[in-house]
Amino acid sequence: MSDSSTANKTPPAKMTAPKIRALKGDRKIRMVTAYDHPSARVVDRAGADIILVGDSVANAVLGMSDTLSVTVDDMVSHTAAVASAKPKALVVGDMPWLSYHSSREETVRNAGRFIREGQAEAVKLEGGRKRVDMVMAVLDAEIPVMGHLGLTPQSVNAMGGYRVQGKQAGVAYELISDAKALEEAGVFAIVLEAVPDLLANMITDELTIPTIGIGAGVGCDGQVLVYHDVLGYGEGHTAKFVRQYTNLSDIAVEAMSAFFADVDSGAFPSDAETYHMPAESAEVLEDLNKPRTSDLMADEAMER
Ligand code: KIV
Repeated sequence: MSDSSTANKTPPAKMTAPKIRALKGDRKIRMVTAYDHPSARVVDRAGADIILVGDSVANAVLGMSDTLSVTVDDMVSHTAAVASAKPKALVVGDMPWLSYHSSREETVRNAGRFIREGQAEAVKLEGGRKRVDMVMAVLDAEIPVMGHLGLTPQSVNAMGGYRVQGKQAGVAYELISDAKALEEAGVFAIVLEAVPDLLANMITDELTIPTIGIGAGVGCDGQVLVYHDVLGYGEGHTAKFVRQYTNLSDIAVEAMSAFFADVDSGAFPSDAETYHMPAESAEVLEDLNKPRTSDLMADEAMER
């Protein structure tokens, strides 16, 4: 008998960069970061459109204070872990600092590693007109590119800290020009991070590709947050734009404490959590393990 709750339900189709692009004006795009197989499974089951293997892995997972020390090797390894979950969501690998800054050749080689070794389906890189040449090199290699404007964490030293970008009209106007240049170059979507909502809305209205906001107000075509921020699985400062939906750290500490309490009291493991030997084998083993008369005689001879 077929289960009526599952009958006629076709599995959701695999998300692609062109499909993300086509979602503009249709519905909101759901994007979140993930850095390993189980977290990719969680966000995919919850219905993510895009999984970003962000260089925020540096802060969220690797205990670093910024994203500048994370390498292409680190990023490709985390991307492969995410892709191994075979998500329906589009897997986007985040190109780390200095992996797309020196030459077109090196940029394409690094982007290619995300695709070939990491099994990503697109890459993201930070910056506007300054990076258009590199964006076009990657696109020429048939790799879809997502842009990232506003607060670009890889520019933390140049920006003098993690600050909201585009509060002044002049800077805001530059960001609009950057967004248009990226669109013209051929990116399929742009992340807007920590910019005033008015600016995000203007960019969103002017572009034919989707904007995905993080601290950019409700007017963007989609929203993205970091996995550990959504789940409250981490410690330390969180930005104003983060909404934490649960406290996984507290839940995990509670579960671990219960395990340790059971270890202390002997309540773990129970009989059901223990392997047993068949009775016949136990008898044979006990017999085999009995001291033999010849051994006892040899022991006595040694003592004399
Ligand atoms: O690395 C990251 O998590 C990001 C998002 C903030 C967009 O780039």
